[in-house]
Amino acid sequence: MPRRPDQDTFDAVDAFVESTLFAMPDPALEAAQADADAAGLPQIQVTPPQSRLLEILIRAIGAQRILEFGTLAGYSTIAMARCLPEEGLLTTLEFDPAHAEVAWTNIERAGVADLVDLRVGAALETLPLLASEGCGPFDFVFIDADKVNTPAYFAWALDRTRPGGMIFADNVVRGGGIADPDGSEDEVAQRTFHEYLAEEPRVSATTIQTVAAKGYDGFTLSVVL
Ligand code: SAH
Ligand code: DHB
Ligand code: MG
Repeated sequence: MPRRPDQDTFDAVDAFVESTLFAMPDPALEAAQADADAAGLPQIQVTPPQSRLLEILIRAIGAQRILEFGTLAGYSTIAMARCLPEEGLLTTLEFDPAHAEVAWTNIERAGVADLVDLRVGAALETLPLLASEGCGPFDFVFIDADKVNTPAYFAWALDRTRPGGMIFADNVVRGGGIADPDGSEDEVAQRTFHEYLAEEPRVSATTIQTVAAKGYDGFTLSVVL
């Protein structure tokens, strides 16, 4: 047993978990990832164990309305959408049209296209349109787009998430950067996010550090009171 776990250890543990809990073939997600890699998209999607956590939370609260910031190739989108009932809807926001195109092919092949509304554009520009359409209320929100806007996305989503609903903000720890007051703009935004949460009585929130094949990071999970 290593006493000083490092990235090799994190990789080995994720490989072990994937070889046991994820031994069953998952053609939809495997094909989605293969297409994403073939198209040269950044490999920053949630890992299989992380996507399973999203699925577990969504099933646990019986979510029917989901909002996602940051589609990329649709890996997390597919994982979440397939937990929805027939009448469910996942709205996912993606800035990059090339990402959205790969994602839509993946979403259709996975058989969840009827459950997914993919909007292309900068999320902050799409949100007023969603509001004017009377979107929500949402049961589950996954914030995983441009990290500097996490606080803004959270504030918008909170007004439209039902009590008992959850908001999951990914990549808040950023290799420990959140602990550095002189960190990058993305890192300082996670500090701002936490200072905002400290003053927000409508949620109960916690931040969990994670290690994984994709490195050291973490997420903030909030439940709406
Ligand atoms: N949720 C995905 C990963 C998302 S990666 C998964 O786990 O499978 C982050 C994505 O956010 C990228 O595709 C990037 O193009 C997108 N993005 C960046 N800025 C954005 C913005 N302003 N609005 C919407 N999406 C944005
Ligand atoms: C980045 C984005 C992600 O969604 C992620 O999980 C890891 C890294 C990034 O933009 O660096
Ligand atoms: Mg992420």
